[in-house]
Amino acid sequence: MAARSTARFVCAECGAVTAKWGGKCETCGAWNSISEEPQEAAPGLSGGIAAKGVKSKHRKIAFTDLAGTAAPPPRAPTGIAELDRVLGGGLVAGSAILLGGDPGIGKSTILLQAAASLANSGKRVLYISGEEAVEQVRMRARRLGLSGAKMELAAAINLRDIIGSLEAATDATLVVIDSIQTMWLDEIESAPGTVSQVRACSFELIRAAKTRGFAVVLVGHVTKDGAIAGPRVLEHMVDAVLYFEGDRGHQFRILRGVKNRFGATDEIGVFEMGEMGLTEVPNPSALFLAERRGNISGSAVFAGLEGSRPVLVEIQCLLAPNPGGSPRRSVIGWDSGRLSMLLAVLETRCGVRFNATDVYLNVAGGLRISEPAADLAVAAALVSAAYDTPTDPGMVFFGEVGLSGEIRQVAQSDARLKEAEKLGFDAACLPRRVARGNRPLVAPAGLVLREIGHLSDLVARFAGPASATAAPASTATKSF
Ligand code: TYD
Ligand code: MG
Repeated sequence: MAARSTARFVCAECGAVTAKWGGKCETCGAWNSISEEPQEAAPGLSGGIAAKGVKSKHRKIAFTDLAGTAAPPPRAPTGIAELDRVLGGGLVAGSAILLGGDPGIGKSTILLQAAASLANSGKRVLYISGEEAVEQVRMRARRLGLSGAKMELAAAINLRDIIGSLEAATDATLVVIDSIQTMWLDEIESAPGTVSQVRACSFELIRAAKTRGFAVVLVGHVTKDGAIAGPRVLEHMVDAVLYFEGDRGHQFRILRGVKNRFGATDEIGVFEMGEMGLTEVPNPSALFLAERRGNISGSAVFAGLEGSRPVLVEIQCLLAPNPGGSPRRSVIGWDSGRLSMLLAVLETRCGVRFNATDVYLNVAGGLRISEPAADLAVAAALVSAAYDTPTDPGMVFFGEVGLSGEIRQVAQSDARLKEAEKLGFDAACLPRRVARGNRPLVAPAGLVLREIGHLSDLVARFAGPASATAAPASTATKSF
């Protein structure tokens, strides 16, 4: 039995190591994620190189300067444009990519589609499944009409066998490991899925990818259950981290790049899960607005930006009276802390009361928004619901709200306005332009701009007799 002093507890979410067990990880705050794991073999170097002095055996490393040219890394486009966009243009040779997401969200499906597409373009692709038997993968391929693709498929979990078999795979473009949590290296004592196994297996696979020059995609399940190591443990080891998100009740799936050493992060790819697998959605705004019904109070369209791409979404708000007790605030697709802030600003600076009301906020379509630019659209939905007056169905909203109620500038207004016009909107409510010697905003001709400087300007349009009696509308003063 291991002596008490050598016991080691590891958080499955973030990989933090502690000396004693606890219900909550002090490092990342996750609950029930800590479990005991055997001590990993101590690396031979510990014990003080410095102590041995510089005379110990070593090879000199070569330092160089910052200037210098290197050709951009070769990329292999997968042929799935939405995936390639998130990757930054295709798979980079020798890179490691982590694809995370809830079980059943569609990770195996998108990878099978990408792998088949690459194989059909003449590239060598190896797909190693640790979760499903070969026949199950074949069945999925048949269903997706991909049986003809010339890719190499195997079901295996023993990492020593896998690495050995990849030895000769120098001509491969892509190796898929589905999933990293099922892989098992015999020299590590713990079970597959534990932090030590996941780390050691990933390390070996990434090293193989770098030396053999193929791209490796590691699939990682994100689970709330601490029994399986969360992919977050791997984020720093890989070159790119993509998350596949979506609500299983919706058919939309969003592939989000959260780290990319070879491209921009925050890019999204939008897919729709259907009978024939995942299909790309080249125009997500149209999809997110498809079920919108105009003339309903509590709804406002946000002109957002996801990576380099403008995306319009509907923000919905429902208020329900709650005279006694503490009112509920329920948010789907947005930050609840930000909602509390907006409610406080609306109450304190504009006198709109929500203290006896439950507030339900929803971003329609299952998209998650993290941009502060959504503040103004959320505020418009809230105020519209509070005064039971619909927003102008032809108007989009964007702008950040500050604590004093001021509306602050946001990036890329022109791209947002252009997208709004493209989708048939004829007005936009946005922050008042400030003279800062900035590049002037070029608004599309078909769009009426309603610039506001303070949240009370927005509230004034919904409240008071001025709006009730419908102030005479000229083109310059379009109502909300
Ligand atoms: P899968 O790729 O197996 O998910 P993951 O690898 O992330 O666990 O996707 C499984 C879900 O997708 C499953 O609920 C069925 C659904 N699905 C479709 O709706 N259509 C399809 O064509 C396929 C292949 C799967
Ligand atoms: Mg799977």
